Amino acid sequence: MPERPTDPQIQLEAAIHRAIRRALPDAPADAEPMLRPASDPRFGDFQANAAMGLAKQLKRKPREVAEAIAAALGDAGGLLAGPAAVAGPGFLNLTLSAEALGELAAGLDPTRPGEPTGTTVVVDYGSPNLAKEMHVGHLRSSVIGDALCRVLERRGDRVIRQNHIGDWGTQFGMLLEHLIETGWADREGEDRAIGDLNELYQQAKRRDDADPAFAESARRRVVALQAGEPEARAFWRSLIGESLRHMNEVFARLGLLLDDGDLKPESAYNEALGPLCRRLESGGHATRSDGALCVFVAGFETPLIIEKSDGGHGYATTDLAAAAHRVKELGGDRLVYVVDSRQREHFQKFFAAARDAGLADAQTRMDHAAFGTILGPDKRPFKTRDGGTVKLTDVLDEAVEKATAVVAQKNPDLPADEREAVGRLVGIGAVKYADLSGDRVKDYVFDWGRMLALEGNTAPYLQYSYARIRSIFRKGGVDFEAADLPPIAAEAPAERALVLHLARYAATLDAVADSLEPHRLAAWAFELATLYHRFYEACPVLKDGHEATRGSRLALSRLVAEALEDALGLLGIGVPERM
Ligand code: ARG
Repeated sequence: MPERPTDPQIQLEAAIHRAIRRALPDAPADAEPMLRPASDPRFGDFQANAAMGLAKQLKRKPREVAEAIAAALGDAGGLLAGPAAVAGPGFLNLTLSAEALGELAAGLDPTRPGEPTGTTVVVDYGSPNLAKEMHVGHLRSSVIGDALCRVLERRGDRVIRQNHIGDWGTQFGMLLEHLIETGWADREGEDRAIGDLNELYQQAKRRDDADPAFAESARRRVVALQAGEPEARAFWRSLIGESLRHMNEVFARLGLLLDDGDLKPESAYNEALGPLCRRLESGGHATRSDGALCVFVAGFETPLIIEKSDGGHGYATTDLAAAAHRVKELGGDRLVYVVDSRQREHFQKFFAAARDAGLADAQTRMDHAAFGTILGPDKRPFKTRDGGTVKLTDVLDEAVEKATAVVAQKNPDLPADEREAVGRLVGIGAVKYADLSGDRVKDYVFDWGRMLALEGNTAPYLQYSYARIRSIFRKGGVDFEAADLPPIAAEAPAERALVLHLARYAATLDAVADSLEPHRLAAWAFELATLYHRFYEACPVLKDGHEATRGSRLALSRLVAEALEDALGLLGIGVPERM
């Protein structure tokens, strides 16, 4: 699909373009055919809206202009079933010929990778702060980032993942001080396991707020840590190790691509921060203001503070150093940050500062793939009943439990072990899909009932659509993987609609790669499942008497299943063979 010469949409665009030039010599050379998929299949497969705009420019009647284009277009060299029909104020309705559609169907391969683009994309995602346990808010960055990596890679980019974990900063002084005081530091091996990181954080925070002597020791602990004092470093390393173990457990359950090789913690940039500040200062990119070293960015009231008056560095400085690393060391042409939309201002400022200071090149594309907040049923940020943060592991446990019940109800005959496995697939899939299927910048309400529904734009519906196709093959005694099936003859309107929609897969992935919006892929998959449902109602698959029709419909069904599996796979969601 991605290699376009056979894509009828591209061919049609070119043919209409030529027809415009031939029929309307006065038209501007870059006149757009304005070709869209038809909104109603009764009017054909595509609609071209060029005539209206051209008529205005040429001061002619739109219908007259449309007639002239249609006449010059003819059947577009056999691409169309007949001449374009002029409708309404001057739309051109176009129907592909059986041959063109057959050729299109024969060339469909949802899993075909795009040509290498030569672009290296560095994607920053996951990136939790390690001082606390992962909560439901961490879902979004990891799930969206993962889907984006898969899509970018499929479309031919070289993708480098960066898990920019927060393992540095003042909160670690407080945690370490508390751990040392409570005797944790004297324990060995297993006994160092930290049961509840949140609990620990709360305790340390309470002491820090209430006890000035503790706060002072905590502060000294940070200084020691940052100065590389061996004892502080050793304690900090075990603490980070514990926290990482927890993070990896959660990521594994989510089935993320991220692994230890993608870790690039904040602490890794520590040594680079001082020299970077000196460079920006001497280069005139940063100036002193009230003792702090600042980068002033046009259009923002407050500057980016890169060095506090006590010499300390923070989040922004680290991001500047990381950007330089990603561009110069990793060769990134495009930097993507999958981070909460509440950090929008930080990213806008820091992108501008990085460019001004020459840390990124003028042509480096920098994108903040911002996402909204997960809300509870009360439309406020999702919290536990007593107002605490919702732990991600608890959410995943509950999802699997609920999904297993849904599966058991849907198909009581599934053997227990298969039911568990499918329950995991559906439960984790439902949580991920709920996150990916909405416009990412918007907040969304975390709603078990909605995400686990077997109807509507949900993972279970799509997974079930896949499983149902597999069951058609089982019922017909046809080997899904190996059967040699005839070419697809798309004749009925429902079959035509499916083929045309399948043909839009590559363009959909391109749009996701460009906009960094996975919900476009989810919408495509949902539409595919909906169209298949309509096809299934209208066109008997196994019951059709004609051997060739049965074969063609099985082939089309298999292609839909493969496309569904692939699309869900790119969203990081698996499909069950039965459900
Ligand atoms: N650790 C940060 C947080 O939890 C997110 C880091 C995002 N990446 C970055 N390069 N700033 O808010």
